[in-house]
Amino acid sequence: MPDRVTVPEITKKKGRGSIVMVTAYDAPTTRWGEGAGAEILLVGDSLSMVVLGYSTTLDVTLDEMLHHARAVSRTARRALLVGDLPFGSYQGSAEQAVASATRFVKESGMHAVKLEGLWPETVRALTRAGIPVMGHLGLTPQSFHQFGGYRVQGRTIEAAKKLVAAARELQEAGCFSIVLEGIPAEVASVVTKALAIPTIGIGAGVDCDGQVLVVHDLLGMSEGPLPRFVAGYADIEKEAIASVAAWAADVRSGNVPTDKQSYHLKREDVQEWRKETEDR
Ligand code: KIV
Repeated sequence: MPDRVTVPEITKKKGRGSIVMVTAYDAPTTRWGEGAGAEILLVGDSLSMVVLGYSTTLDVTLDEMLHHARAVSRTARRALLVGDLPFGSYQGSAEQAVASATRFVKESGMHAVKLEGLWPETVRALTRAGIPVMGHLGLTPQSFHQFGGYRVQGRTIEAAKKLVAAARELQEAGCFSIVLEGIPAEVASVVTKALAIPTIGIGAGVDCDGQVLVVHDLLGMSEGPLPRFVAGYADIEKEAIASVAAWAADVRSGNVPTDKQSYHLKREDVQEWRKETEDR
């Protein structure tokens, strides 16, 4: 079995721009991410929208996250597994965050957790408890209402300086890496250079130490318009609908199942059975 990717190995990749993280929510998406060699699989709270059909990431519960995280850890062999603390599971207090993160580790086999925003005391409490923490700054979707929508953050020099300060504070508190989402490439570049820990970008330009995407966006399996940073690598939803439609047409026209796709009794048994019914 290949060696498991560790937190120290990820931090050592600082400066190489090579860290690949992709979301996973179940056995197939875990196989796809690991099959592609991703170092980190994130059980993101994007689960809420791309899998569970909620309209924001605010809806998904910790129990729903754990259910999916278990499927990922049962399947994964090599990647570092990060569980996203969902809205309402960590903002109450550092104690609440430790309790939620402990469930992620104990009940679902995650190796680390991610949380959105600037919560240095919480990061300290989690790392004291031995749970590695990935930060997440910029367009943090759990603050959707506060931002008034999914808006690119850090667009002014003042806002950019605040982002750099926040990233430094999270590093100081013990984060082993930070996701930078939806910020200008120039700002992500400055943040990345200001830190000793890796940054992982999504809509944050090319200068981050790694990149992350939601697997359903990457594969063309999500609804609605996609952000500009999601190049269409596949159109799986279109292919899936076409395949189901082709099968449905064959069912309706009686083309399937074919004789080869069916199971059969032995010819002699069929003959004997027929005779029995005829004799009656
Ligand atoms: O929930 C998620 O998928 C995420 C990534 C977009 C970083 O937080």
